[in-house]
Amino acid sequence: MCSIIGYYGKNSAAPIMVKGLKRMEYRGYDSVGVATEYDQKIEVRKGVGKVSEVNDSECLDKLPGRIGIGHTRWATHGKVTALNAHPHSSTSGKIAIVHNGIIENFNELKEELEKDGFTFVSETDSEVIANLLQQNYNQTSNVKKSIIKTVSKLKGHYAFVAMFENGILAAARYHEPMIIGIGKDDYFLSSDVLGFIEKTDDAIYIDNGNFVILDSSGMQICDFEGTPVKHQITKVSKEFADAYKGDYAHFTLKEISEQPETILNAGKKTESAIEQTADFIKHAKNVYMTGSGTSYNAALVAKYLMSKYAKVKIEPIISSELPTLHDSIEPNSILIAISQSGESADVLEAVNIAKKSNAKILAIANHKNSALVHESSLFIGMNCGPEVGVAATKSFTSQLAIIYKITEKLCEGCLDLDFKEVSNSISKILSNHSKIQSIAKELKNVSDIYVLGRGIHYPIASEAALKLKELTYIHAEGIPGGELKHGPLALMDSNVYVIIINPNDSTYTDTLTSAREIKARGAKIIGISDKNSDVYDHWIEIPSIKESMFPLIEIISIQLLSYYSAVEKDTDPDYPRNLAKSVTVK
Ligand code: F6R
Repeated sequence: MCSIIGYYGKNSAAPIMVKGLKRMEYRGYDSVGVATEYDQKIEVRKGVGKVSEVNDSECLDKLPGRIGIGHTRWATHGKVTALNAHPHSSTSGKIAIVHNGIIENFNELKEELEKDGFTFVSETDSEVIANLLQQNYNQTSNVKKSIIKTVSKLKGHYAFVAMFENGILAAARYHEPMIIGIGKDDYFLSSDVLGFIEKTDDAIYIDNGNFVILDSSGMQICDFEGTPVKHQITKVSKEFADAYKGDYAHFTLKEISEQPETILNAGKKTESAIEQTADFIKHAKNVYMTGSGTSYNAALVAKYLMSKYAKVKIEPIISSELPTLHDSIEPNSILIAISQSGESADVLEAVNIAKKSNAKILAIANHKNSALVHESSLFIGMNCGPEVGVAATKSFTSQLAIIYKITEKLCEGCLDLDFKEVSNSISKILSNHSKIQSIAKELKNVSDIYVLGRGIHYPIASEAALKLKELTYIHAEGIPGGELKHGPLALMDSNVYVIIINPNDSTYTDTLTSAREIKARGAKIIGISDKNSDVYDHWIEIPSIKESMFPLIEIISIQLLSYYSAVEKDTDPDYPRNLAKSVTVK
């Protein structure tokens, strides 16, 4: 989703910002822009496309000056055009801003500003921030006062950086991330540590409802009333700077291939948090588990696993649905929030609701410096390293591994976990590329794929369908095996492919029956199993493993199948259209 970068220092700002924006490309965007202040004048350059393309056409990195702001935009209000790209300037051109989030009352503010002579050139909600700041600066001639007045009028969730013609930089944060990087003789402002990690690993996470001003006298951080606040410098994890593709054609393939190793690292160094989580679960009145997309599918696996093996009931809730289900949570309940990025707005909102009800918040996240972890009283680290591909792959199996570890504590060792065995099984699946590649060629022209799984394999079927949709743009749907006859069977004909997740476990016979019913209607069957069957048109073999462990390995084949199908279709597996890695708006 949108990324912000700001620079204040002694070096040439533009090349540093363009590099920072490139590092944040994985978050997803459609247009890009940069502005610098030089000789008390602001110049803005922007356009539609990748950072390197717009840089080639607009020479973004050649802008002069030692102060600047930059942005990659993921359209919410207004089409994907150069005019709608950030930075946006105030009518006089004396202030420029970059903004993440949504200004809910932008229409009212715009009308008021227009009455006062301000004009607008874009369709965005963001442009009001530039003009509102200008209006307030005209009245106060003071950057601090103009920020305080501006934030008092804005409604919604936002983080913005404003650059004033007099060479002052200011940034405010309200329910959107904003981090200050502290360099040797410079400052960085960014929505993501990747924006500046190459330059410094000292960072200040601006608290919600605070703003910062950078000028020749240094840095001042205040709350929205203008009272200076204390701040803490944190060392950010350098490992997130190591996001290189190496010899792999795509980050997605690299990340899929890392799983024999990442599965072994999940939860490491946070073992006591795993133990405490199990303890909280045992004593809580209700246990809710929340997440979005893939992270929600992990919560669904937890429901089946904990119910079957630990006889513990948990309620998985899609984060964006939580506000419609619960405006509060019963006392003595816990909310386990799962999020790779730790920045998903829907997850943070769900956490907010639970916190207001005094529920304990436990986070399973990959980014330990994320907003989610800051909001939680306990944190379990996924430790799978940077995941750049927009589609979640290795983070999913890391989330599952943590869920397995918590379940193991709850049932006092009943799973007999052996992650070395899981890791070896994943390696075996990964060595079977050529078979999967040849099936991917066939899927190229298919318009509908269904994925069927029974019991604990149903959440894996949902996750598989999500991967197929995101990476291949083919319509895909997960079906719980037993539901076939209650509707989906009507869709089966010779144009359809159905992936059957069918390890040789207690669900095997029923699932095979479903496969036969589908086959009888002419659909093509891809079986994912450790046991072959004449019903499969294609068999993707997975190793035999303990019954409880199959979910950890069966998803790998579908990640590969989705990846290779995307390659066959010539879509970009790393950056699927319209999607963003961190969904930081509601
Ligand atoms: C799916 C995918 C998304 C994310 C979702 C939650 O491949 O990447 O569905 O899983 O946006 O993201 P996090 O886990 O960062 O909260």
